[in-house]
Amino acid sequence: MANKLKESETIEQRMTALLAQMTLAEKIGQMCQLNASEGYAPDYLADDLRAGRVGSVLNVVDVDVVNELQRIAVEESRLGIPLLVGRDVIHGFKTIMPIPLGQAATWNPALVKEGAHLAALEAAGAGINWTFAPMVDISRDARWGRIAESPGECVFLARMLAIAAVEGFQGDDLSATGAIAACAKHFAGYGAVESGRDYATTNLPETKLRNVWLRPFKAAVDAGVMTMMTSFSDLNGVPATGNSFLLRQVLRDEWNFGGFVVSDWDSVRQLQIHGLTENDRESAFEAATAGVDMEMAGDAYRHHLIGLVEEGRIGIDTIDTAVANILRAKFRLGLFENSFTDPAELPPPGNARALATAQKLALQSVVLLKNDHGTLPLSTQRLSSIAVIGPLADARYEQLGTWIFDGDEELAITPLHAINSLVGDDVDVRYVRAMENSRSKATEAFDAAVEIAKDSDLAILFLGEESILSGEAHSRADINLPGDQADLVRRIRETGKPVIAVILAGRPLTLTNIVDQVDAILFAWHPGAMGGPAIADLLFGIESPSGKLPATFPRMVGQIPIYYSQKNTGKPPSRDNVVHIDDIDTYAPQTSLGMSSFHLDTCFTPLFAFGHGLSYTCFDYQRIRTSADEIELGDTVTISADVMNRGEVTAEEVVQLYCRDLVASITRPVKELKGFRRVRIEPNQTLTVDFELHTDDLAFYGRDMQRTVEPGEFHAWIGGSSEAELRTDFRIIDSG
Ligand code: NOJ
Repeated sequence: MANKLKESETIEQRMTALLAQMTLAEKIGQMCQLNASEGYAPDYLADDLRAGRVGSVLNVVDVDVVNELQRIAVEESRLGIPLLVGRDVIHGFKTIMPIPLGQAATWNPALVKEGAHLAALEAAGAGINWTFAPMVDISRDARWGRIAESPGECVFLARMLAIAAVEGFQGDDLSATGAIAACAKHFAGYGAVESGRDYATTNLPETKLRNVWLRPFKAAVDAGVMTMMTSFSDLNGVPATGNSFLLRQVLRDEWNFGGFVVSDWDSVRQLQIHGLTENDRESAFEAATAGVDMEMAGDAYRHHLIGLVEEGRIGIDTIDTAVANILRAKFRLGLFENSFTDPAELPPPGNARALATAQKLALQSVVLLKNDHGTLPLSTQRLSSIAVIGPLADARYEQLGTWIFDGDEELAITPLHAINSLVGDDVDVRYVRAMENSRSKATEAFDAAVEIAKDSDLAILFLGEESILSGEAHSRADINLPGDQADLVRRIRETGKPVIAVILAGRPLTLTNIVDQVDAILFAWHPGAMGGPAIADLLFGIESPSGKLPATFPRMVGQIPIYYSQKNTGKPPSRDNVVHIDDIDTYAPQTSLGMSSFHLDTCFTPLFAFGHGLSYTCFDYQRIRTSADEIELGDTVTISADVMNRGEVTAEEVVQLYCRDLVASITRPVKELKGFRRVRIEPNQTLTVDFELHTDDLAFYGRDMQRTVEPGEFHAWIGGSSEAELRTDFRIIDSG
């Protein structure tokens, strides 16, 4: 600790000394990040680099080019300040792992951390020293294309994953070879865009903002994240890139963030398009005064900051603080000592460890949504032929998902390939793609698919969305399986053969129209390069599925937003007080209506709840208990339950703890995740799982925007999903 402090004092001293030598133009240069992907970067950037007009570049991944850019910056500019080299390393660099939402479904922060670490090592080999990840935007709207990049709907899970990713990318020592700076994005509220339409407006009351959307960012800051990126979206009338409440009051004054803030791509100039400013100059003014330290890919800072300082509208202190924040990151990364990259010092891309982690993440991310009559797992001994059907059975690129700029498609192994390798000559595998892509409406090839299904023992359908249907600017208003996939399912169902659906997608889908047409569903997200082997192992029971949903699956799109931690309302729905549209009494329509919070034309529950995920065994939860019925404010309580594996196979289960604060000065959710543990249990083994809860873990932002714990009664549940019913109660008291 003493050493660390000494080291950071040195950094502050070096930074102050450097700042004192800088001209205004050089300072503003540090605040500019340029896109290096246009043309041959060393040529067109060289003059700017020599003049100290660039602090960072993004989107250059050729290590020789990066080294040359660094050389010009370090050797040919007056002060020799090295560059930050940024890239979207979102779920792997060359070795693509499952999309972040899929990684969230593992509920395994240690594995997510390992994945981020391995991605950092691969990216660092290309000279990258800064990733624009993790995205920690909570999303409760599956229409939003960027839910694929998000940790899902839950504050607690998102916080744990934010910490894991930051630690994975940055390591213990940011200056170590292979560590890269992380960036928590998009600050803040982006996941709440209206109707899930990307870049749209967000409106979040401050208590909701603080209790939900800001908390994963706070976790990232506490974990030492070096940078934050602003959101494209408008928050409560002030676009995030010009929002001083977020960037100064919350981030700096309340959280003491010591890193730097980068805008999103050209989002400074977009302040004008939002209608906040009249021109680029005013946009530069708003963003810089609000606390955006570096502008990404735009030129508002480049062209206007000097004038704004000279006019006296922006004080030199504002500039100095921003530059100090950026230089601090460069010193922490050790860039002044090691400006160049030698790829030989880093593991080669696509190495065995990276592939094994990609496979493990994929394996643990797949969620078994349903499994009637034990259809799964399959047994090679009991099968002689299977029909593999669908547009995503053998589509290497599509299984990688969104944001895979640098991903190596050659590393990807498809489910079809993996099934063939796994079954060898024991089982005859027939394959018909049936649809050119997931959106296809052509049905001509369906007959061929029906034929192979008829001739086989069973059919496995690989359905879902190809990668282009999720990600940035790829929102959907209808989240059913696209194209004619539901029709394909119906046709295969008619053969009378068992039907297994394996769904690859970038978001939760509404599966109501196919759920009863299939015997089993494995939801595999976009599982990355090693998705094929992971899926094959699960289909054939080499491992039991253990993924759990990080986001609620609605029955129909009109239920959105639907999430487990909703408020109770004054008229909560229950089985006794809801009416279906088909059951309204024609002669007394008013009196037959249930008077509670529900939709007439669907059930008030989701199709699959947050935390849901089946296994090939059955876990029995019993004997929930607390270490005390009453806890003093500031103390801890242990909540435990026994989990027994009643089935015949060893399997992993994610044991989940939920709590409810029954009465509070602002209403609290009906359930909030407060802990989870992934455990491996043998058949007939019973494991006691303990969760230690401090009263601070039950705190929330109240009416005065202070985080507080209010004494009173709490419920606690332990189980395998947010629908857990095994409950105990305790009280928090304040006798002091
Ligand atoms: C825009 C995206 O919103 C952001 O997430 C990404 O990091 C930047 N572009 C850079 O590519």
